Amino acid sequence: MTTSSRDLALIHRFVPGSGRTTLLLLHGTGGNEDDLLPLGRELVPNAALLSPRGRVLERGMPRFFRRLAEGVFDQQDLALRTDELVAFIAATASQYHFDAGKVIAVGYSNGANIAASVLLRHPRVLAGAVLFHPMVPFEPSPPPSLPQTPVFMSAGASDAMVPRSLTERLAELLRASGANVTVHWEDGGHELSRSEVDAARDWLSHHTE
Ligand code: MLT
Repeated sequence: MTTSSRDLALIHRFVPGSGRTTLLLLHGTGGNEDDLLPLGRELVPNAALLSPRGRVLERGMPRFFRRLAEGVFDQQDLALRTDELVAFIAATASQYHFDAGKVIAVGYSNGANIAASVLLRHPRVLAGAVLFHPMVPFEPSPPPSLPQTPVFMSAGASDAMVPRSLTERLAELLRASGANVTVHWEDGGHELSRSEVDAARDWLSHHTE
């Protein structure tokens, strides 16, 4: 059974799974709650899937938080939306009876950025994260404590939107916080490639129940 509901703060889909892990699927700019469901199912066939739609609109395109320009984030809005997403995870866990301690985020681009923001601002909420083409959402001070939290990041060596230095800085920040970070590089740009999806699926097979 697939449940779709507007009762909770974010429009979303929830697809139950037979395993213990729930994947929190976070789309890129202009996406919606349906986009990543096939990817989530492919990544972890038995996981529950929780897929919200970002509630910020940029010229009609859903996002998870406001930006002032490309790569320049509205930090106040980011903090607010990050807190909302954390509250949404707790509310949906009690509504759908999934284990809130076994949620792994899978985000692409803007979705990866809010997932990274959750890791850095609320370090105990996610059991792990797959970040496809993330940037640095903000510089936390002091660094959070993310002991052994598994994080898979992927990046494109010729991504015009995400310079190599940002990928490296995010990996460094997460490692300095104690996270267990794997960085996967592709030759291409900002698009999601088959080989990084395969690498993420393999990585997830070691981090899901
Ligand atoms: C996007 O277009 O989603 C950007 O690459 C990332 C962002 O603005 O959060």
